[in-house]
Amino acid sequence: MQWDDLLREGANAFETRYGTAPTWIAAAPGRVNLIGEHTDYNDGYVFPMALERYTVALGAPRNDGRICLASSADASVVELPAGEQPQPLPKGSWGNYPLGVLAGFARRGHRLPGMNVWIHSSVPLGGGLSSSAALEVAIATLCEAALGIELDPVEKALLCQEAEHRFAGMPCGIMDQFIAVLGRADHALLLDCRSRNFEHVPMQDPDVAVLVINTQVKHELTGSEYPTRRKQCEQAAATLGVPALRDATPDQLETARSKLDPVVYRRARHVIGEIARTLQAAEAFRNRDWVRAGELMYASHASLRDDYEVSCPELDLVVELARERGVEGGVFGCRMTGGGFGGCAVALVRTGAVPAVQAHIQAAYRARTGIEPTLFVTRAGQGARVVQR
Ligand code: GLA
Repeated sequence: MQWDDLLREGANAFETRYGTAPTWIAAAPGRVNLIGEHTDYNDGYVFPMALERYTVALGAPRNDGRICLASSADASVVELPAGEQPQPLPKGSWGNYPLGVLAGFARRGHRLPGMNVWIHSSVPLGGGLSSSAALEVAIATLCEAALGIELDPVEKALLCQEAEHRFAGMPCGIMDQFIAVLGRADHALLLDCRSRNFEHVPMQDPDVAVLVINTQVKHELTGSEYPTRRKQCEQAAATLGVPALRDATPDQLETARSKLDPVVYRRARHVIGEIARTLQAAEAFRNRDWVRAGELMYASHASLRDDYEVSCPELDLVVELARERGVEGGVFGCRMTGGGFGGCAVALVRTGAVPAVQAHIQAAYRARTGIEPTLFVTRAGQGARVVQR
């Protein structure tokens, strides 16, 4: 969906529901992570870029001191007094994301006004493209506009991460919220998740395209896979005697191998290898060395599949289908992206080869799984901003 259409649809829906035009409009993007998976909560590096797909939050003041939150994606509406400290809703309610953000503002001493809010989005929901971070950051940006303030960007990302931890019950790292706040058009972002220093790396080569392939599957059965991985990483770091896996070298890991549970050993091997690969990949992207960047993406996928065990047959299939084309067929590299167990893969493709690659993956994936995947090409989008105040 085009940006203009997204805004127009959002504004129309706002008027239909509330009977006035929106006063404030804010937007925040979804993201695709190029490399650096499951490294953020290990104090490592990540290398995501914002999508050209956005969540828009529209708002207008309301004179009864209440806040009303509604969305085109879900029929349930959330309403509360603006002066009240929000409490979490039952797990799985969409309202937990905006409520968590409102709570973060309240906790920092900001008094939000009564307002009507409408959410409209072109980020695919639940597909591993950080629709939840886009929602949190869009709401936070709307609150900034309503309050006439501007938070420090890092503080804003942390506030949104907190919402995810406290209200959505997901102990995520900082990557998704950070890129939603600090993404820059036509750039990927290399982030040091410990110091929070970052670098915008240009992604402007017209000859190379980022292709996102949505497997349309989601296998996270218990929901405990992510927190379990986090714990295993902490356990490995404790055994190695380092503050975080970021501080461990491959040699240290090998030396300590006998002291580690074999599964924990493999988890740590993924993380330590992935952090190194991320820095190497950022260097390859800087140098426009797409062949090297692609090799690192394949290596990342193999490690996530075999050592970290967060891939699934459908993601593996997409990566194999991409690999079949080879560099000669225009594919430099491909890997799963995001938390795993379904969702999306990301491929780096020669622009001229995009139609053929897309057709190949789509047809073969459908034939082998009976599932219709969705594919789209994206440039690096823009981080959160106030569109109207
Ligand atoms: C999810 C989390 C991120 C990150 C990725 C894995 O998207 O929200 O913080 O840990 O998984 O890289």
